[in-house]
Amino acid sequence: MKKIIINGQKTLNGTIRISGAKNSALALIPAAILTDEEATICNLPEISDVKSLEAILDILNVSYKRATESIIINPKNMKNVAIPEEIANKLRASYYFMGALLAKYNHVEMNFPGGCNIGKRPINLHIEGFKKMGAKVTQTTDKYVIHADELKGADITFDIASVGATINIMLAATKAKGTTHINNAAKEPEIKNVADFLNTMGAKIKGAGTSRITITGVDHLKSGAVEVIPDRIEAGTYVIIGTLIADKLKVDNLNPKHIKALLDKLKKTKAKFTIEDESVICEKSSNLIATDMETYYYPGFPTDLQQPFTTYLTCCQGTSTITENIYENRFMHVNELKKMNAKIEKISKEQITIEKSSLQGATVNATDLRAGASLIIAGLIAKGTTTITGVEHILRGYEGIIEKLKNVGADIKLVEED
Ligand code: EPU
Repeated sequence: MKKIIINGQKTLNGTIRISGAKNSALALIPAAILTDEEATICNLPEISDVKSLEAILDILNVSYKRATESIIINPKNMKNVAIPEEIANKLRASYYFMGALLAKYNHVEMNFPGGCNIGKRPINLHIEGFKKMGAKVTQTTDKYVIHADELKGADITFDIASVGATINIMLAATKAKGTTHINNAAKEPEIKNVADFLNTMGAKIKGAGTSRITITGVDHLKSGAVEVIPDRIEAGTYVIIGTLIADKLKVDNLNPKHIKALLDKLKKTKAKFTIEDESVICEKSSNLIATDMETYYYPGFPTDLQQPFTTYLTCCQGTSTITENIYENRFMHVNELKKMNAKIEKISKEQITIEKSSLQGATVNATDLRAGASLIIAGLIAKGTTTITGVEHILRGYEGIIEKLKNVGADIKLVEED
């Protein structure tokens, strides 16, 4: 079993370079199979979720060449086979092969997607969208079978601005007959990154990054290339760390606009940081004050930073409140943080209050990816030693987190025990 061990309260100094965005990369790889030629993805993060998608490419007989932080995908000899359970349910993003395979073959068979256990996470909007485009969807006890005699453009309006459904419908519509409009589309920067990639291959997508996306289907896609945008959640995680325990920490290679909601909140708590074109320079402050925060769809405060921000608020004088509006079960980190003496109370299903606490090292479990990030932050600021289990969740989404933190002075290591 892998464990992370942290001896806390070491002051950090130096630069951390942000990697490519997990949630872009995980959509760009499935998008690449839409061409019959080569597609190149640069600035690809080295995380285990990317490895899980490579396993799906293997099943589909898609050839690919890996280099450091890049992949060249060639789907020329691809075969449309069913994606089995043990691979589909390793991660959420396996569902992007639904839209991509449907676009390419009008037929897809795959098991249910997995991902972090943070709520019910239905995919009804994806399925309803495919149906509107003329597909028939059959759900058996263990898989979806989606088939269209011909995939047609449609006018689709989501009840919820879902990231996954927006990308999946965009993928399906790229090669459909006619024009598709997605209304109330999600506006996350990762969606534009995927649309830009598809457009380099000859797709006709307009409006990505706004709430209305128009996709005019094309018959054929040529080769294309893309650079994965910086990971705004990884960036936000290190900015939080820097404002808590750094002498001077430069969080580099990020887009400050993408983390504006976090920076605005940090400013309210009197955190010390300076914003440059592609970096944020952070410094610890001992006079942080409490604030309230609600998660919301982009450009609101991202749910993926809610758990790291919980730990941040344990350093702020007064009582803070967090309201989680996106997922119904994203407070699993709270009980773990309480083991470290955090003063947090759950006041309703979607709300917690946090008071300034003196965190103490303990043995805690990362129940999901961002819960893991919140525990690493807690371990870095706590007195004594923190041991974190459930490390595989963290390695799914944070490239080289141990090395990045060690390089700036953290006392952190990954150990493997039986
Ligand atoms: N929803 C539905 N029906 C649907 C789709 C979504 O009810 O058909 C609900 C979900 O249950 C959730 C809300 O809508 O309550 C938002 O879900 P969304 O579809 O936007 O999320 P997702 O596509 O499953 C992606 C990221 C998540 C991130 C969310 C929100 C990937 C692979 N995952 O998930 O990332 O939290 O968007 O920004 O892109 C993470 O990185 O830690 C992570 C969980």
